[in-house]
Amino acid sequence: MLIRIKRLGEMPSSEITDHQVYLNRRQFLNGVAIAATATVLPGSLASAATDPVPTFNNLTKSPFSTSETPTPFESVTSYNNFYEFGTDKSSPALLATEFPDKTKPWRVTIDGECDNPGDYDYDDLIRPFTLEERIYNFRCVEGWSMVIPWVGFPLADLIKRAQPNSRAKFVEFTTLYDPEQMPGQRRGVLDWPYTEGLRMDEAMNPLTILSVGVYGQELPGQNGAPIRLVVPWKYGFKSIKSIVRIRFVEQLPATAWVKAGPREYGFYSNVNPNVDHPRWSQSRERRIGDFLKRETEMFNGYSEHVAHMYTNMDLKKNF
Ligand code: MTE
Repeated sequence: MLIRIKRLGEMPSSEITDHQVYLNRRQFLNGVAIAATATVLPGSLASAATDPVPTFNNLTKSPFSTSETPTPFESVTSYNNFYEFGTDKSSPALLATEFPDKTKPWRVTIDGECDNPGDYDYDDLIRPFTLEERIYNFRCVEGWSMVIPWVGFPLADLIKRAQPNSRAKFVEFTTLYDPEQMPGQRRGVLDWPYTEGLRMDEAMNPLTILSVGVYGQELPGQNGAPIRLVVPWKYGFKSIKSIVRIRFVEQLPATAWVKAGPREYGFYSNVNPNVDHPRWSQSRERRIGDFLKRETEMFNGYSEHVAHMYTNMDLKKNF
């Protein structure tokens, strides 16, 4: 990432690993806020402030879910990367509380090399699809990971509806560009809007989902409301947030991080403990909440579902 202010890779490890300190500080601040409101709120209401309130009922648990214990809701929704709301982990939760603006309709365009393009209102876009809960390991390129209970549906379901034609080799995703709502876009940290891409077989893989929620509730702004991608065998930055466009293309799409630092971030970005980032090792990770680091697994532990897509590829070249 070519960010001269403070690039992900240039963050001192103390900043990457100080999550517990960060949470303690947050809990302290929450405590102060709760103490301040306790005089007017019943205790149960005051302490419920950070609990998830389920809005999606009767979600089936996907067979693709991991049985690992999910990372607490508080961490999932307060320790985020969302550069449109700042480059540090706490800004998105602070600045995206009102995002997206509920008075502005959220529209998603499906276009490019397909026979059934469309410009959908968010509700119409997701209505045909069956939502389920998928608990995935989620590994960030910076060396930390979480276990996140997403709510979503397979991207393949949406792709089948769009009917891509034979020229469609890749899918390109684009985040909203709206510097008024997204203060981070007022600075040239990345080439806005944020874009990402997948090869067509990766996009069709049953593990790839479009997510609309976490912990049974609608996605908070900081997690990429109202709709984002989740690709669990790739580093977290492939999981683009707040999508407004899904386009089928013939050529490999230019993506935000590859544009920013082509020697450091590749198009594929499969989690791979054997291929180091030029400036740090990818062999281990710190699960948020754990004290000790653990070994990182090939394809983030999803090899049986995805390894076949890369059998003829040199994964050192195609990192
Ligand atoms: N999408 C957009 N539009 N902007 C971003 O800055 N950050 C990425 C990814 N998607 C990012 C994004 C990175 S680096 C990570 S690790 C994940 O979102 C973090 O997702 P989470 O905050 O929901 O855990």
